[in-house]
Amino acid sequence: MENALRTQVGIVGAGPAGLMLAHLLYLHGIECIVVEARSRRHIEERVRAGVLEQNTVDLLNRIGIGDRMCREGLLHNGIEIGFQGRRHRIDIAALTGKAITVYAQHEVVKDLVHARLTTGQPIIFEATDLTITGLDTDSPLIRFSENGQSRELSCDFIAGCDGFHGVCRGAIPQDALTIYERIYPFGWLGILAEAVPSQNQLVYMHHDRGFALFSMRSPKVTRLYLQCDPAENISEWSDARIWSELFVRFESSDGWKPNEGRIMQKNVTSMRSFVVEPMQYGRLFLAGDSAHIVPPTGAKGMNLAIADVRFLACGLAAFYKNGQVKSLEQYSAMCLRRVWKVQRFSWWMTSMLHRFPDSNAFDLRRQVAELDYVTSSVAAASSLAENYAGLPLDFEDEWTN
Ligand code: DHB
Repeated sequence: MENALRTQVGIVGAGPAGLMLAHLLYLHGIECIVVEARSRRHIEERVRAGVLEQNTVDLLNRIGIGDRMCREGLLHNGIEIGFQGRRHRIDIAALTGKAITVYAQHEVVKDLVHARLTTGQPIIFEATDLTITGLDTDSPLIRFSENGQSRELSCDFIAGCDGFHGVCRGAIPQDALTIYERIYPFGWLGILAEAVPSQNQLVYMHHDRGFALFSMRSPKVTRLYLQCDPAENISEWSDARIWSELFVRFESSDGWKPNEGRIMQKNVTSMRSFVVEPMQYGRLFLAGDSAHIVPPTGAKGMNLAIADVRFLACGLAAFYKNGQVKSLEQYSAMCLRRVWKVQRFSWWMTSMLHRFPDSNAFDLRRQVAELDYVTSSVAAASSLAENYAGLPLDFEDEWTN
């Protein structure tokens, strides 16, 4: 049949998880096809977080995709945590020997798309009517339409890298999955401003009126976030109101504040913690946001997605090289160990820094005590720094330093 395609690994979704998996498999000599519902432009412009942990930076460099990140990314040795109008530095490099790199997620996506297309490997964009079947068989199928033509892709395995709202998780029988979830009673209003970052480290600021985050995208662009209502109506936030709220929340004893500039983009993000267990069903492996969501505080989402597919690539390589299924069988359990540690960290950062609508005076005092502890105890600061810069991986592969 003309419309029938065949590959070893069918990858649903061209976000960081799907594209990184595709590249790792390519390096292992394993054939795959990436099928994506959105356009190339959409995935390359989708604004997400922008902090790469050391594991992610090292991997991008080791697989030869790190050139632009090294040129344009901003290397940070520490972050600041502020409360009661004072900012305190966490020296991540001194505490862990590691650093973080500020480089937007969609830039990583662009670099991965570029790498895949220059190696002549397929990505099918704007696939519609996507369904997956045959997960219990040796030859699962991805069905979709491309330019109005129906296609059937038969694979040995499917990687579900299609995000929280994708089709892959929903293709697993409900009674085979357990869902763990927490929805937070707040969101983030994020802006990109044409303003020189007024300092070269991120600031996580606790304030009675709610959390605020100072970040950046380039030497000329500042990225800022304000805790807001999850159903916030963005049209009620004029540029003037956003700046005045930012200046109130960042007000510091030393007079530091973000530089003001033209607001180029505004958006509201809701916040949840979500895990599905197991991350595998038959020949379908879930990776990244299709299996877990973290709240954005700490910017772990993409880093975690990349750790998932790095392990999946090892398992698939062992299968194709010598028929070993052990790593694939351990995929879900291995990933979930890291997933839950990162969930804990993201929940903890979120809980420590945000104002909860039902919190009372006791909760506020306890939050301030925690912030005081984390910024004054080397033991507590080391724990934050270790998680922020990225926990060590629980396995080794050919790209381990
Ligand atoms: C950014 C986002 C985060 O969630 C975070 O913790 C730090 C930085 C960002 O978009 O720059």
